[in-house]
Amino acid sequence: MRKLLLLSFLFLGHATALDDVTVLTVATEENDGFKRFLRSAKTYDIDVQVLGQGEKWEGGDMNFPGGGQKVNLLKEKVEELMKTKENDHIVMFTDSYDVMFLGTLGDILVKFKAMPDTRVLFSAEPFCWPDPKLAAMYPNAEVTNPYLNSGGFIGYLSELNAILNARKIKDNEDDQLYYTKVYLSELRDSLKISLDHKSEIFQNLNGALSDVQLRINTTEEWPYLENVATKQRPLVVHGNGPAKLMLNTMGNYLAKSWSMKKGCALCAERKIQLNEDNLPHVMLAIFIEVATPFVEEFFESVLLLDYPKNRVHLILRNNVPFHEPYVDEFYNKYAKEYATAKRIKPIDYMSEAEARNLAKDRCTNSMCDYLFSVDSVARLKPQTLRVLLTSGYDVIAPMLARPGQAWSNFWGAINASGYYARSTDYMDIVYGSIRGVWNVPFITNCYLVKMELFHTPKGQEVTYVKDDVDPDMAFCNSLRSIGVMMYVNNEEDLGHLVNHENFDVSRTHPDVYQVLDNKMEWERRYLHKEYLANFIDGQKPKMPCPDVYWFPLMSPRFCKEWIDIMEAYGKWSDGSNNDKRLEGGYEAVPTRDIHMNQVGLERQWLHILKEYVRPLQEMVFTGYYHNPPVSIMNFVVRYRPDEQPSLRPHHDSSTYTINLALNTPNEDYTGGGCHFLRYNCSVRDTRLGWLLMHPGRLTHYHEGLPVNSGTRYIMISFVDP
Ligand SMILES: *[C@@H]1O[C@H](CO)[C@@H](O)[C@H](O)[C@H]1NC(C)=O
Ligand SMILES: *[C@@H]1O[C@H](CO)[C@@H](O)[C@H](O)[C@H]1NC(C)=O
Ligand SMILES: *[C@@H]1O[C@H](CO)[C@@H](O)[C@H](O)[C@H]1NC(C)=O
Repeated sequence: MRKLLLLSFLFLGHATALDDVTVLTVATEENDGFKRFLRSAKTYDIDVQVLGQGEKWEGGDMNFPGGGQKVNLLKEKVEELMKTKENDHIVMFTDSYDVMFLGTLGDILVKFKAMPDTRVLFSAEPFCWPDPKLAAMYPNAEVTNPYLNSGGFIGYLSELNAILNARKIKDNEDDQLYYTKVYLSELRDSLKISLDHKSEIFQNLNGALSDVQLRINTTEEWPYLENVATKQRPLVVHGNGPAKLMLNTMGNYLAKSWSMKKGCALCAERKIQLNEDNLPHVMLAIFIEVATPFVEEFFESVLLLDYPKNRVHLILRNNVPFHEPYVDEFYNKYAKEYATAKRIKPIDYMSEAEARNLAKDRCTNSMCDYLFSVDSVARLKPQTLRVLLTSGYDVIAPMLARPGQAWSNFWGAINASGYYARSTDYMDIVYGSIRGVWNVPFITNCYLVKMELFHTPKGQEVTYVKDDVDPDMAFCNSLRSIGVMMYVNNEEDLGHLVNHENFDVSRTHPDVYQVLDNKMEWERRYLHKEYLANFIDGQKPKMPCPDVYWFPLMSPRFCKEWIDIMEAYGKWSDGSNNDKRLEGGYEAVPTRDIHMNQVGLERQWLHILKEYVRPLQEMVFTGYYHNPPVSIMNFVVRYRPDEQPSLRPHHDSSTYTINLALNTPNEDYTGGGCHFLRYNCSVRDTRLGWLLMHPGRLTHYHEGLPVNSGTRYIMISFVDP
């Protein structure tokens, strides 16, 4: 019997949820916040009726008093319901742009009906707004959230109708003030109006962020929001006022958007397919605003983007004269492959913001479907553009970070004055320990924007130009202000950022200086392509003379640029025994050379010794371990017939010496080589970019063999003197 009763009770509860509740909201535009709201409703099977769609909003800016239009739209609807529904019909109202449902209507009703002596329940908050003077009139001013917030309420039809007819309100007057005055009148008792002080149903986030915890890593199936102060799990969350951004972060997880186990459920829902026969037109807008390391590799990654160039409109803006020759080369060679192409040069004297606006406007006013903005510091994978296009988001950036660093192309949060602030999940996103698509307040360096956004009257206000603010901050500010959400995608690795901070274009070949800052690019361009093969198990290292090892180390391009740097500097030593560069001022076996510290390459070269030479040494001279290698003498030597063709036999003051061939015998010079006297053994056929490694003292007494024609260059280090 008991069992039966319980069953019928459950059944009735269910019927109530479906039949006797009307859920209402007001939305005059279908922005991203509205879409998020509707999705959360759908997630919990809540059927929402939207009032005001297609109407012009007269209720003012959401951040300032206004919203009377919401009251009037609701009043009209409630009067209509009065004609067909019973008095005990329940109506729930919430805002939409900054609200999400976190539970089912069944759960909401159970909590509402359990509230003692309550026929209408408004959400509550810690601020008395918009008229702080009214605070004195409130009962219960000592509770945590004493004041009424009009972003969410639930109640019985007849009482709500009475509230909405209590007085008149103009569309541009404040809705919260309206309900507050009702609450502070005798109607509070007669209509049994309560406030949800404990956030049993409604959680307003503004002023409450230290009370709420987003539980992500839980044993439950989905993340949830907990009010730790009241031990409640709210069922409706409202990112009111400045807490809107916090809701954006929470919204990444809530309403079954993402979970530890399932990953990004929302991303999967959003994905769209491209019609290969009619691919979208993309404006690829390239910006070189700062002197950028490895610009050739940048253009290479652009060319390798997996997308037909006849659907791409190129706009190439360079504002760095140093890069102009290479940009010229690229443009002359490849511009014709794109559907259209335009260039903005340093001599056009256009500001960055103007150039970015120009690209956006050019895209808005043409056939273009998407703007793909890419800065020269961004390095993209071939699939990046397609991944973004099929993600289904209107404004989306690939997550790009400096390898191994926290520096990235997005901010997880912004502080009160609009600058960077770290979100709790920032590092997890950057390091990929959680993967998905994330709503964030700021993106830069590379992003895709759907141009439809800019066809609306509001969209036309979006701009990169704002006084005293970086263009990308101005852009993101203006997107946020019209309710457009930005996302960053780290579902898979889509590329990275180079670090331009220590890039000094006053150097000859500045890229070769970048081994410490941009290892990935540097290794690809400057390490010998067989370098890694040195370490293949079972490979026997080459040994042209006893205990003289021979390894491929640097690429031909490295060798050429290294020589160029020395010759551009040009201050070769005079080959005499007096050498002011040395501590003692005396060199017993002088060469014509330039030291690395004379050309600003000392740190870089020591790093090369540590990272790339030392492992080779440890492989062949086993048991000797000295990390980092110490080397005081690091220099390039020049041998030529009319200057110094050879070097007399000598020992080196080193544990081991390395001797890197920077050019090629019988191409660049004849003769030359190194002769080890004890073994009567010479290495003459030295190879470009290969290094010889041999002990410095006692056994390896050696001499430099005479160069007969041309110039021979070698790079020498005396390691661990
Ligand atoms: C999630 O929680 C478990 C157990 O407390 C912990 O071992 C794990 O490291 C957590 N994962 C993350 C990503 O925080
Ligand atoms: C926001 O961050 C900027 C830059 O780091 C800083 O100068 C400013 O003081 C911060 N503002 C607030 C309100 O924290
Ligand atoms: C050294 O080797 C060369 C040939 O490689 C040979 O002609 C010469 O006689 C050798 N010298 C000595 C001292 O063994």
